[in-house]
Amino acid sequence: MKTYKIALIKGDGIGPEIIDEAVKVLDAVASCCDLEFSYEEALMGGCAYDITGDPLPQETINISLNSDAVLFGAIGGSKWDNLPREKRPESGLLRFRKELGVYANLRPANVFDELINASSLKPEVIKGVDLMVVRELIGGIYFGEPKGRDENKGWNTMVYTREEIVRIAHQAFKIAMNRSKRVCSIDKANVLDVSQLWREVVIEVSKEYPEVELTHMYVDNAAMQLIRDPRQFDVMLTGNIFGDILSDEASMLSGSIGLLPSASVGAKIGVYEPIHGSAPDIAGQGVANPIATILSASMMLRYALDEHKAADKIDAAVKRALKEGYRTKDLAQYDAKEVCSTSEMGSIIANYAAK
Ligand code: IPM
Ligand code: MG
Repeated sequence: MKTYKIALIKGDGIGPEIIDEAVKVLDAVASCCDLEFSYEEALMGGCAYDITGDPLPQETINISLNSDAVLFGAIGGSKWDNLPREKRPESGLLRFRKELGVYANLRPANVFDELINASSLKPEVIKGVDLMVVRELIGGIYFGEPKGRDENKGWNTMVYTREEIVRIAHQAFKIAMNRSKRVCSIDKANVLDVSQLWREVVIEVSKEYPEVELTHMYVDNAAMQLIRDPRQFDVMLTGNIFGDILSDEASMLSGSIGLLPSASVGAKIGVYEPIHGSAPDIAGQGVANPIATILSASMMLRYALDEHKAADKIDAAVKRALKEGYRTKDLAQYDAKEVCSTSEMGSIIANYAAK
């Protein structure tokens, strides 16, 4: 039997509810795949600030570095909106990614046939969409110096070094090799110097992957093309802010942001988290969709632990639950046979995954 140490960061809002369901599903696959998980909880975000005065206590970093992988819920909420920037939950998250060194954020967006009507786009446009945003996560304008503000001016700097672009480009090309072998690199090279360098370096790296077709697209056009014809994309390689925006957009192709997982990798310890936020407006009501977090646990099994059989079981269980018509409230109007709560959905998926 293999034992894995998982750091659980539940966070704020719906974070605790959705993590509990992912744990339920992990434990269900553990029993049938001869695995064992031991969990250690750590605080981050608003809840960490409330207790310790710091949105990212050092202990959380230690626990995470001492684990095999981190499963993360969500952080933030209007309660903490007026704190100084460095005390805000989001600052804790950015610092966490930086401390761990997870520079590559993988955000798949695919459309479940069962939910083809849930998207605001026409079924014929989205049927079969299967793309992956590979977003640089610890550089770019979110981290660049100088930054600051005074009463009349605020400023940030978008900066990328060659080395940062090289490593994220390799990630994108490697991922593309296991998919449809197409990378579309997103930039704004018609305006930004940083994007010109981005494009040059991506072209250089692409020479090591002759089988992969590389194209380039300006970010504004990409935002439009994602809605016009999303099937044209396989891997979208982006910097930090462009990927933040485009991955939210891509998530809506699938109908609900509650469905999409993500992985932040590139360092020894990876972080696996749903792409949605903490949704404080629905926290504690048992209506949150746990599927994005459950699929994040599946990505964790696949990418961090190399447990593909267990990951396959989870993916199949999610598909089956959707196929049989189980829906949380966010998707209730789309061919629901039965509307279920957060924890009912977790139990149904756990039950299928255990078989
Ligand atoms: C995300 C979020 C974060 C980001 C915020 C909460 C800092 O929007 O993970 O996409 O911008 O990276
Ligand atoms: Mg975002």
